[in-house]
Amino acid sequence: MSDSMKNSKKIYGPNPSFVENANVKKIDENLSIERFWEKEAERLHWFRKWDSVLEGEIPFTRWFTNGKINASYNCIDRHLNSWKKNKAALIFEGEPGDRAVYTYQDLYREVTKFSNVLKKMGINKGDVVTIYLPMIPQAVISMLACSRIGAVHSVVFGGFSSQALSDRINDSEAKLVITSDGYWRRGGIVQAKDRVDKALYETTTVDHVIVIQRSKNHIHMVKDRDYWYHELMDWAEIGCEAEAMDAEDDLFMLYTSGTTGKPKGVVHSTGGYLTGVSSTHHNVFDHKDEDVYWCAADIGWITGHSYIVYGPLSNGSTLLIYEGAPDYPAKDRTWDIVEKYSVSILYTAPTAIRMFMKWGEKWLENKNLSSLRLLGSVGEPINPEAWEWYYKNVGKGNCPIVDTWWQTETGSIMISSLPGINKMKPGSVCKPLPGICADVVDDKGESVPYGRNGYLVVKRPWPSMLRNVYKNTQRYVETYWSMFDGMFCTGDGAFKDEDGYIWVSGRVDDVIVCAGHNIGSAEVESSIVTHKSVAEAAAIGCNNAIKGLGICIFATLKEGEFPSRDLENELSEIIIAEIGKFAKPDKYFFAKELPKTRSGKIMRRLLRDVAEGRELGDTTTLLDVSVIDDFMTMDD
Ligand code: WTA
Repeated sequence: MSDSMKNSKKIYGPNPSFVENANVKKIDENLSIERFWEKEAERLHWFRKWDSVLEGEIPFTRWFTNGKINASYNCIDRHLNSWKKNKAALIFEGEPGDRAVYTYQDLYREVTKFSNVLKKMGINKGDVVTIYLPMIPQAVISMLACSRIGAVHSVVFGGFSSQALSDRINDSEAKLVITSDGYWRRGGIVQAKDRVDKALYETTTVDHVIVIQRSKNHIHMVKDRDYWYHELMDWAEIGCEAEAMDAEDDLFMLYTSGTTGKPKGVVHSTGGYLTGVSSTHHNVFDHKDEDVYWCAADIGWITGHSYIVYGPLSNGSTLLIYEGAPDYPAKDRTWDIVEKYSVSILYTAPTAIRMFMKWGEKWLENKNLSSLRLLGSVGEPINPEAWEWYYKNVGKGNCPIVDTWWQTETGSIMISSLPGINKMKPGSVCKPLPGICADVVDDKGESVPYGRNGYLVVKRPWPSMLRNVYKNTQRYVETYWSMFDGMFCTGDGAFKDEDGYIWVSGRVDDVIVCAGHNIGSAEVESSIVTHKSVAEAAAIGCNNAIKGLGICIFATLKEGEFPSRDLENELSEIIIAEIGKFAKPDKYFFAKELPKTRSGKIMRRLLRDVAEGRELGDTTTLLDVSVIDDFMTMDD
């Protein structure tokens, strides 16, 4: 554990006025895990109640057996018999500044009409529909229209290339693709439909493409294959009965972002998944009817599925979605949106927070952010530096931060503070939520004492866990269930501190073994970013001809800062002081950006290639390939 993590001795909150009104004020320790989840499932509308809460043996457990439920019904219809009928369900802001608001009644109309369109297009229960859309309301509508009729959606992030898209269409055997003519990004139009056309040269299963008109750029429509959404919707009837799905029926599949290897189609169930996301959205985000809730993720990721669509809408939230880039037309767009819509809950990722830090405080100084009452973080370990910055500059010291640990595979948040109960330690994800039995174990599967690194595992099944890897049960079992008997292996490394708080150090594959020491990349990175000039850093273990394995640092600097030997020496001194001499980096690379997956995770595999002077491996999941060319070292 580096000193910047260990010495983040500051402990915050919980704030007494927040506690008073919190959704969860105490945990009932006497509830069994099954009874806990049963109570959470009772928050939803079931067409038929389950016979038993949990059946089967790991890794093939079933939740709420024989229960009948529909996700779209829970996200829409359930709210129509109350005052929420006319509540804003979805507030949309487009990048050019256009906006739209959909009430729950509006959502009902649009979703049921689109469900009828899908049916007319030959989509039946169990068919797979690929959704390749930007952050526009029709993305949410499409997902809910699929789940309403029992079609399984496979959302492919809109930034993916045609190659990545066709791979995912082929693996899932999708029958239909929903896309847009294009969308706005930094003032320009991204040609989404062209990519679909190209992808479909490589596929055989797709019969139809439905195209949403967003940017009005010229596109090619293939006769009898491509149809305009607005034309189909003109004729569609309002009202479409929600299919009573078995709790264990598939709700969707989602390909994991994959910093390594071939993407896996993670399959989620209907009843268990919805229970998990609805419960955690209520408990962790402390969601209230009056909130304006903004999860700034993309629907292409699990965060978008669970905490833009299914969690919030099942709880009757008012959610906000924004189409474009956070720096367009200027670097204050995020704060403008918070002010304009009076956002009260903001959920974003450490990579975004570090970017805001790099841009500087001046972009938020004259914004009124007083509507904010809770902040969230997800996707990577948040270094204490960034945590403090977020707490102070965005939350103004008044908003609890929930650092939520979970995965595409876990479906919903597993480890997080509960804002009305737990104290927060910057950099720690706190403790497993009620109903979740997560632990840190050694390579024999024994719980490790506090302070010692180990593997983060889950020891009991939970409702929103993945049910399979699409068409590849063997991969499902091998990847997640074969390392330890009866435990779900998350692939993350972590340790517990003396209070039982969990500190995630990153993917186990990212642990650097240097001079016989195990060094978590997150520890080194967390130290380096304490230097005033550094915005973001990645620490990579790389072969060193002389020493065996050494550490290479890839860093981006804050605006107005430049690389120099002195800077390198200062950074090395910090690492030596905080971790030890054995961790002194061999080499520094400076760049404008770090290569990241489209979901914002640093692609360490590529950095390793750069550090070792190898040809680059697969770059198809990379957000911006050109960043690789910008690396510079003081040695060249
Ligand atoms: C990492 C995103 C530290 C972790 C929801 C995990 C985190 C992977 C946190 C899953 C967090 C996610 N602190 N690390 N709060 N949240 N991670 O599937 O390595 O895109 O295994 O799901 O992100 O990424 P995924």
